Amino acid sequence: VLFKELNSLGLKINQQKLTILDQELLPHREVWLEVSDPYQMSNYIRSLKVRGAPLIGVAAALAIADYAKKDVSRDELLKSAMTLRGARPTAVNLMNAVDRMLPLLKVPTPSVANLVAKATEIFEEDVRLCLEMGLEGAKFINDGDTVLTHCNAGGLATAGIGTAVGVIKTAHDQGKKIHVYVDETRPLLQGARLTSWELHRHGIPFTLICDNMAGFLMSLGKIQKIFVGADRIAKNGDFANKIGTFTVATMASVHKIPFYVVAPSTTVDPNCPNGKNIPVEQRDPKEVIGAEGHPSSQVYNPAFDVSPRHLVTEYIGCKQYLDL
Ligand code: MRU
Repeated sequence: VLFKELNSLGLKINQQKLTILDQELLPHREVWLEVSDPYQMSNYIRSLKVRGAPLIGVAAALAIADYAKKDVSRDELLKSAMTLRGARPTAVNLMNAVDRMLPLLKVPTPSVANLVAKATEIFEEDVRLCLEMGLEGAKFINDGDTVLTHCNAGGLATAGIGTAVGVIKTAHDQGKKIHVYVDETRPLLQGARLTSWELHRHGIPFTLICDNMAGFLMSLGKIQKIFVGADRIAKNGDFANKIGTFTVATMASVHKIPFYVVAPSTTVDPNCPNGKNIPVEQRDPKEVIGAEGHPSSQVYNPAFDVSPRHLVTEYIGCKQYLDL
């Protein structure tokens, strides 16, 4: 059984090898790592070498299919799938993707061909959903707009052109002249390191700001629209996204700036009635204080926050799956 060649900004199947771009090293170094098994993929997901809600789902599915090609037992495949499923807690795309693979693993003799086909389908579906969100969302961007985005919701976070950044890329490709303000996104700087890298590659003009500058820019009338991604959306529309999103959404509401959440159906959690039920990942204090940080500092480091639906002007890509 052979894989098709699959290509995205942060993950590839190339000559039957599953490889990932080490996002921890961007933007200074572009290093591709071969993935030997799901446990290694799980470590790459935990350490954010592979990251972004849709991409970690796609990466997990492909890692399972790749492992099945190596003739491992059904029990071992199931065990590795459960390890992947628990690699990160907030982005529901990860659980959704593994749960689509599980029925194929729970049969007496899992079919490698079926697993490869399902993982490929999950990759290709994400590419298609990104393109659809791009077209749907670009309608909200006018020629001459200045928009703001938070974290990285681009091609690095998906198998396709991205979610929020996919909308921006589509509007740019349609010939609209736009400028993007990029929140640096403390503490791991996905905006400064990753979104900037992507926008630069795509030739989209942008300006990097510290997170704490966004509200001031809004008050000066410099931002017309805001586009963000999501890691999990509850049925009622409350959503989790990278820490700092709630502050941006609140400031947008205060300044009456349209605030758009761009996410595929795979980011909606049908079992989660509202934002209170979304688990928020807590991360290493060292991300905040650095390896040399003061040892007696108490650090609180939630990786995500949850914003209520009333702060959202429009959902792009997932509205029909929500009870609004
Ligand atoms: O760096 P991560 O994986 O913790 O960040 C997740 C995200 O990329 C963002 O929250 C993003 O805006 C939603 S995923 C397109």
